[in-house]
Formats: sequence, structure tokens, C-alpha cells
Amino acid sequence: MENFVGIITGCNSLTGIGRATAYSIAKKNPKAIYVTDISDSNLATLAEDITKTTGVECIAKLVNASCDEDVKGVIDDAMKKYGRLDFYFANAGIGNAKSMAEQTKEEFLEMMTNNAWRYGYLLLSNIEIVFAAVKYASAAMEQTSSQKPKPSGSIVATSSIASARSGAGSMSYAASKAAVVNICQTGAWRLHGKNIRVNAVCPGVIETEMTKPLLEAIAKDPRKQRLAMLHSALERYGKPEEVGALVAFLVSRDASFINGQAMTVDGGSTAALPYLPCFVDN
Ligand SMILES: NC(=O)c1ccc[n+]([C@@H]2O[C@H](COP(=O)([O-])OP(=O)(O)OC[C@H]3O[C@@H](n4cnc5c(N)ncnc54)[C@H](O)[C@@H]3O)[C@@H](O)[C@H]2O)c1
Repeated sequence: MENFVGIITGCNSLTGIGRATAYSIAKKNPKAIYVTDISDSNLATLAEDITKTTGVECIAKLVNASCDEDVKGVIDDAMKKYGRLDFYFANAGIGNAKSMAEQTKEEFLEMMTNNAWRYGYLLLSNIEIVFAAVKYASAAMEQTSSQKPKPSGSIVATSSIASARSGAGSMSYAASKAAVVNICQTGAWRLHGKNIRVNAVCPGVIETEMTKPLLEAIAKDPRKQRLAMLHSALERYGKPEEVGALVAFLVSRDASFINGQAMTVDGGSTAALPYLPCFVDN
């Protein structure tokens, strides 16, 4: 990743996928990484630590990843300072635990089209964040200069195994994550011939701030805990750095022919039908 400059969204959470990915990418020795989030309580210390431990320039910036002006602002900053944008990880996102019974058809549809803010929690942002990433980051990646003579870039977005199957989130969360995969597929083709790749990563259950309340509730009930361990063939939850390692690969030159894909990192969860002990043990 020599000379690479890139942006990661959703890095403020101390246990999150964004923060872990910043370290995974820094290990590959790019020129600079922007670590961004809608909250900035932990961003400056993250940036300082990455620079101190890896020597990679790391810049902390307050960015609402679903706000066009913020996204354009951080991309402009990178272009002015470094003259290039090589990767953009559209990772920021939120969950939602509303049950099907609690959510009305109107709420769901409105969430999937516009005006999601009205309901307090912005699930649509999972889609807006990725749309803004593909739209604005690709425009910067197309720009050339003496030190980057050809357009190039890699955009990665965080989807979820909820995009492919039921059982990993509310109906609107799952639908928004399915849309993230689709935006990556169509984005890859809208950018055909431009040497810009767009891929999604689909994590299974990862131990982060987002899943903390759920996993704590499960841990209190031994029966649920036993069942939860069977959600992956590795009989454990994933760690944020296990997603970070995949993203660091996808944004690097090593993944130069991987495009328009949804890559799953779930310990085997989606490889199986629901667990039936007699089949597994035989
Ligand atoms: N943890 C899991 O099991 C899991 C599984 C599949 C997918 N995901 C996805 O992974 C991504 C990261 O989640 P996480 O598990 O690390 O959660 P997390 O809560 O630890 O981190 C999410 C970060 O995103 C930030 N954020 C939220 N909305 C934002 C916005 N509009 N602009 C900028 N920053 C914003 C939050 O402030 C937070 O720092 C999300 O897109 C989530 O849906 C998580």
C-alpha cells in the first residue's frame, strides 16, 4: 500500500470494526489514513497511537458519513494535502432492534426511501453512507497527478450476514444491509473501465459496542449462551480485527482483481442450515 491515502468511517468506538481496521491497514504501511466518526471522543488518541506505533500519518476528523458535505469535506482535505485518494472504507453504521410487530409498514418503507430521521434512528444511513462513499470517493479516485498517473482505488463497505439471510438483525437492518451489497455490485459496474473496485464485507456476530447489549443479555442465560455458541462453526463470536484483516487485504494492491463481491467473515455461520446435532456429530 506504498503511498496510499485513504479514509475510514466509524472509527470512534473503542471496540469497533473501524478502529481495528485502522490498525490492520496501518500495518500495510500506507502514506496516510483519515480516521473519522460522527463522535470524536476517541479519535485523536487513536490517530496519535497509530502514528506513534506504525509511523503512518493518521488524521482524526469529525465526519457524519451520511452527510454529503462532511464526506466531500474529508475527501477534499485528502486531495488538497496528498493529491490522491486510494481507499475508502464505508464502515459507519447503526443497528436497530425493533421487532417486526413494533415497526409499521409506513415506517419501514419510509426508512427505505427517505425521511428516516423522523423515527429517531437512521437506518437509512446504512445505505446513504455507502451511496455517498461510492459517489464521492470514486470521483476523487479518478483524478490523476504526476505521482498517480492512472485512476485507481478501492471502496469497501460494511454490510452484514443479515444481508443474505434472516436471523441476524431486524427486518429494516437486514434490508438496508442487502442494499449495501447491491450498491457495491452496481457501483463496481457503474465504474467499469476506471480501475476502481467496490466490494462489501459481510461480518457475522462480532464483539463490538453494537453487539455488547445483545451478547451481555445472552451471557446471563446458560441455555441461550450454549445456543449462541452454535451460531458459528468455530463456536465463538468474531473479533473486530478479523474483519479488519479482510478489509486491509481488499483495499490493498493484492486484491487488484476482486471487484463487486460481498465477502463473508462469519466463522462459518452462513455455511450451514440450522444446527442439528445428529448430522454434525456423524
Ligand atoms: N458487530 C457486529 O456484529 C456487526 C456485524 C455485521 C455488520 N456490522 C456493521 O459493522 C459496522 C461497524 O459496526 P461496529 O460493530 O463496529 O459497531 P460500533 O457501534 O462499535 O461502531 C460503529 C461506529 O460508527 C459510528 N457511526 C454511526 N453512525 C455514523 C455516521 N452517520 N457517521 C459517522 N460515524 C457513525 C459510531 O459513532 C461508532 O463509532 C456497522 O456498519 C455495522 O452495521 C457489525
